[in-house]
Amino acid sequence: MKNNIILIGCMGCGKSTVGQRLAKSLGYQFVDTDNLIVKKYGESIPSIFESKGEAYFRQLETDILQELNHSTNHTVIATGGGIPVKDQNQVLLRSLGHVFYLDTSLNVLLKRVQGDTGRPLLASGNQEEKLRKILEERTPKYISCAHTIIKTDDKSFYELVKEIEMGFLQH
Ligand code: S3P
Repeated sequence: MKNNIILIGCMGCGKSTVGQRLAKSLGYQFVDTDNLIVKKYGESIPSIFESKGEAYFRQLETDILQELNHSTNHTVIATGGGIPVKDQNQVLLRSLGHVFYLDTSLNVLLKRVQGDTGRPLLASGNQEEKLRKILEERTPKYISCAHTIIKTDDKSFYELVKEIEMGFLQH
């Protein structure tokens, strides 16, 4: 297995914040698949969804995972919340390194994403209903993809970083 840490979980679970702090603590690189897509294609995520559709965006995610699989090591990788839905991506994620699922309750997720306009799947309509449905549909996928599940509610970012570090180093 490659020596990377991969963070998966629903929008708002803290993948980017925890990932950056974790990378700093371990002396690892940090990448975020959404940022890699934005940089590579020069277009924001909402704009890609609008101009080319979700299926196109999902293919870009798989392409990025394949690229990471060729070259990446000693890196913390924060992933877009929808990546583990595809079985093909699950295989790619698990071959990239140790996959941690940040398991966060609907209420905490909702507080974090409220008012956010950068996530096309939650941009219109009833955010709570949409997020509940997404979480229900994806939870089995997150669980089957993860090597380790980390419950995040009521934990500080510092505590989460230490818990993931321990899980990774003891593995
Ligand atoms: C998505 C999550 C987003 C981003 C895109 C789609 C999803 O990333 O990839 O808006 O399907 O859950 P975050 O999980 O970092 O918000």
